[in-house]
Amino acid sequence: MIIVQLSDTHITPEPTRADGTLSRQAAMQRAVAHVLTMAAAPDAVLVTGDLTDHGTAEEYAAFQDLIAPFPMPVYVIPGNHDDRTRMLQLWPSQGTQHMERFMQYTVESHAVRLIALDTVLPGSDRGEICDERLAWLDARLAEQPDRPTLVFMHHPPFRSGMHVLDALDLEGADALAAVISRHPQVERLVAGHIHCEMQARVGGTLAMTASSTGLQIKIDLGAPERIWATPHRPTCLVHAWNVNHGLRTCSSAIGDAGPYPLIHDGTSWIS
Ligand SMILES: [Fe+2]
Repeated sequence: MIIVQLSDTHITPEPTRADGTLSRQAAMQRAVAHVLTMAAAPDAVLVTGDLTDHGTAEEYAAFQDLIAPFPMPVYVIPGNHDDRTRMLQLWPSQGTQHMERFMQYTVESHAVRLIALDTVLPGSDRGEICDERLAWLDARLAEQPDRPTLVFMHHPPFRSGMHVLDALDLEGADALAAVISRHPQVERLVAGHIHCEMQARVGGTLAMTASSTGLQIKIDLGAPERIWATPHRPTCLVHAWNVNHGLRTCSSAIGDAGPYPLIHDGTSWIS
């Protein structure tokens, strides 16, 4: 089973930009084309929040048009730039076991169980996992303790070390880690929000963020009070499950079309 994770698409109404730079819509088109041409077709796509820049109906209509070419299921959750109420109206039937008022649900139809967590705190760019949402997660995880599970959310459950982004962190992250530590079948906690890739251990499992399909942030450990944008090519995460090897995650550079030199043909190395 292969799950592709895109994040922080931040779709705006403009399909193109007057200054010739890549619009958010064009960046998402590039990402969709990348996923559709992967050698091994994904079974599902996750979009981990900030689908739109302002949560307007026009932006969601553009987002839905952009993901229309995907033949596989696409699962979405809100980020701090989204409108949860509007998203619940637009995506009323994702997965099963929906939670009242929040965009939390489970997906049972794949080899890896997927659990969507809603970390939105309305009116704030910070995230929140409240007692109600946490109790729902705990109960869902208790249902299938032996099934490999991936939990996806917008705000990462760890601090990045970048001051500006850590001011927008997840309230309740410690309580979330405590719940996760009681459910060792959780293979991954995956998130977005910080527009760069990062990994950390949380509650005894591996937590990671995907970058944005648009604006990339460069980590500067020497100046954590600053935020840099980088022109580096965006990436998506590919979470691949195999019963013999477990869940492996790799990063895939969007727009990287090759060609590549073959260096091993399955029998021998090629010089
Ligand atoms: Fe974002």
